[in-house]
Amino acid sequence: MSQKVKEKLAKLFSLEDKVILLTGAAGGIGSELAKGLAEIGADMALCDRDETGLAAVKAEIAAQGDSAECFSLDLLKMDSIKQCVQAVVEKFGKIDVLINCAGINKRDGCLDADEETYDRIMGVNLKGAFFLSQEVAKQMMAVKTGSIINVASYNAVMMLGGCGVYGASKSGVAAMMRAQAIEWAQYGIRSNALAPGHISTPLTAPLWNDPERSSFLLQRIAMERSGTPQDLLGMVILLASDASAYMSGQLYVVDGGCLAGGKPWHYDTKY
Ligand SMILES: NC(=O)c1ccc[n+]([C@@H]2O[C@H](COP(=O)([O-])OP(=O)(O)OC[C@H]3O[C@@H](n4cnc5c(N)ncnc54)[C@H](O)[C@@H]3O)[C@@H](O)[C@H]2O)c1
Repeated sequence: MSQKVKEKLAKLFSLEDKVILLTGAAGGIGSELAKGLAEIGADMALCDRDETGLAAVKAEIAAQGDSAECFSLDLLKMDSIKQCVQAVVEKFGKIDVLINCAGINKRDGCLDADEETYDRIMGVNLKGAFFLSQEVAKQMMAVKTGSIINVASYNAVMMLGGCGVYGASKSGVAAMMRAQAIEWAQYGIRSNALAPGHISTPLTAPLWNDPERSSFLLQRIAMERSGTPQDLLGMVILLASDASAYMSGQLYVVDGGCLAGGKPWHYDTKY
């Protein structure tokens, strides 16, 4: 690649000196995003309620020669949300990008999900993301720039059994993202959502460890494999960087060709 091309691409996708507040940073997807984003120069504020997990991710980032800061965050507590944003701003002076990645699920059918489960899933996935976005947007408004990346799901568009509450929370995330995009564009804030397909992480281990369910999924994924957290990094870099300056209000699916309709079986070909 010529120096000119390298410089153009580096400028377009640069995250250097951008402060990224990432929730769920101790989780399967969040930890890989944290490492990948730190590697290309972002100043990472790693937020999660799992402080031990955060410290481990911070150590992995240090081992790759980069740095990051950890912040305790419980999305079920409004005080914690406010304190976390305040602590990140005190440390870094600004927040350029918010990635709402923390999320939980408990697989119960619609007849069996109880109120506690409903409140907890909605509380983390939707209410927590809503009020964290609100706090962060107040910071972004002051400097008239910012990008919010909301992690939605396949279940915001399609549905797996046992994911009624989870899917409702993720459809809510997609609606929230559209509201953020149209209300906050005037302040220079963009908001988008990423809908990962079936990614192999602790959250989805119950699906991938079940032979019947994993076979069902693989038959529907055109690429015939589960996704990895690293498969999501490119889209996140795009949405976080100035390369997506005119992109807002959309849900971007990264799913190995699953929503397209699944595997086309095997047709004979002369090639
Ligand atoms: N894994 C997949 O296939 C998949 C598919 C679609 C969407 N997603 C979404 O991607 C995101 C990350 O999923 P994952 O697979 O990495 O899950 P994960 O369980 O590995 O990680 C989730 C993280 O969220 C944190 N968290 C949970 N409750 C919290 C709270 N109250 N406050 C702060 N942090 C809290 C956990 O400590 C954990 O580190 C989630 O929003 C999930 O819904 C995942």
